[in-house]
Amino acid sequence: MSHAELWYAARATGTTLLLVLTLTVVLGIVARSGRRAGGLPGFAVAAVHRNTSLLAVALLVVHVVTVVLDPFSHLGALDTVLPFGAGYRPFWVGLGTCAADVLLALVVTSLLRRRIGARIWRGVHWAAYAVWPLAFAHSLGSGTDAGTGWLRAVAGGCAVTVVLAVCWRCSDSFHRRRPSGSLAAGLHLPDRPPRPPAARPHQPRRPGGAEAHTVGRWTR
Ligand code: HEM
Repeated sequence: MSHAELWYAARATGTTLLLVLTLTVVLGIVARSGRRAGGLPGFAVAAVHRNTSLLAVALLVVHVVTVVLDPFSHLGALDTVLPFGAGYRPFWVGLGTCAADVLLALVVTSLLRRRIGARIWRGVHWAAYAVWPLAFAHSLGSGTDAGTGWLRAVAGGCAVTVVLAVCWRCSDSFHRRRPSGSLAAGLHLPDRPPRPPAARPHQPRRPGGAEAHTVGRWTR
């Protein structure tokens, strides 16, 4: 690949990644609500959310490889995991590295969810709300196209979409009419810890080991 092709690939994957991350955040919020979206039932929305997050990781890999191979960026392999040490716009590129680190943690914990349990998974998954602003700031601070109208329009559209989705997530209407088992069907998570089994009334044992049978107030 020529330098120009690497440069185009880095910019194209970066912008597509911001769009896919935005879609992932919105789908994650809709999946959490258990509602239908675009004619899809709740469990299908959750499946699309999982797949867009994997697509984001694939795009991230291509984005990172192309910026590292692009000689103009002066980035080493270490800059892709350790933030704020890059030779090119260290602060803004560092924000992208932070977003990438958190995104990878989210994907790894999601793949290991059955092993680590829903509580830890959910705790880590709150960090998803940090990925998007980090990626957004990185996109506007490090890219060649940051000053162009079209990238500002794309970034602005993404920002409005995410802000609206988060406002809905925090509103009362999000929690209203939540179908039972929505998460079980979609994200496969219990809404609240299962109740302990009801305590059985004490039944005295008869000598000889047989259970006492209670009929009304009488024990036989
Ligand atoms: C979720 C994570 C990330 C997202 C959403 C993202 C998104 C973007 C976007 C939208 C651009 C602007 C493209 C343009 O100007 O047309 C960009 C540029 C750039 N990104 Fe990322 N990025 C991420 C992670 C990273 C990481 C981990 C690195 C490397 C450590 C990185 C390095 C760069 C560089 C060097 C540029 C400037 C490319 C250029 O204009 O020549 N990004 N990124």
